[in-house]
Amino acid sequence: MIKEESLLIQAVDLHRIFFVGQQKLYVLKGINLEVKVGEMLGIVGASGVGKSTLLHLMGTLDRPNQGKVFFNGFDLFSLADEKLAHFRNQKIGFVFQFHHLLPEFSALENTLIPALIKREDKRKARERAVELLTEIGLGQRLHNKPGELSGGEQQRVAVARALMNDPEIILADEPTGNLDRQTGEAVFQLLCRLNKEKGKTFVIVTHSQEMALKMDRVLKLVDGSILAD
Ligand SMILES: Nc1ncnc2c1ncn2[C@@H]1O[C@H](COP(=O)(O)OP(=O)(O)O)[C@@H](O)[C@H]1O
Ligand SMILES: [Mg+2]
Repeated sequence: MIKEESLLIQAVDLHRIFFVGQQKLYVLKGINLEVKVGEMLGIVGASGVGKSTLLHLMGTLDRPNQGKVFFNGFDLFSLADEKLAHFRNQKIGFVFQFHHLLPEFSALENTLIPALIKREDKRKARERAVELLTEIGLGQRLHNKPGELSGGEQQRVAVARALMNDPEIILADEPTGNLDRQTGEAVFQLLCRLNKEKGKTFVIVTHSQEMALKMDRVLKLVDGSILAD
């Protein structure tokens, strides 16, 4: 659901090279792309082609060797690491293939973490976390630790955590890649609902043809470049 034709993210001529021993691995070779406010953009491509690398650059978890990423027109990599971490915490939600929940903490505590990093009022944050988890069907699982939750429930906690600071965009890297088909479908439905009902912007890396078909737009990564959509 594209609410308006305004650009949220613009990536310009992104290059990423990794050094592996003596070898230079040219993973991204000049990527240009745009993400519009309110859209659900899919990124597909063969394993190892650089999808995660691209998502990490868009989310400022990594820096490009060349090129820029603009967020609401602002040149992100002009920021030093500390400022960039602050930006990330406030504006971007991440969901990974493996949920990366902290095993010693409950669903509620895991969801709260981004707000604690932001130094938000604890009581308010807790209220919001309860609300988020309840909304995505985990109201009865607040105090369970990840090990006591099913794969789908764990991934839903990861989604709640990504939403905690009300980010402008959610970047998801194969969010259903580790789930069985039915559970994966349910998690994807949740993301679609957040897009349609709350107007959240998503970039989702996926292997699933079925999921890709339901996106507003899909970009295919081939040999370090984007194939026309
Ligand atoms: N930090 C790194 N150091 C060296 N090589 C890396 C690093 N991250 C990714 N790569 C390599 O870059 C390529 C693209 O990786 P990745 O973005 O994870 O692919 P995809 O997500 O499409 O499967 C792979 O060949 C991977 O081994
Ligand atoms: Mg990947």
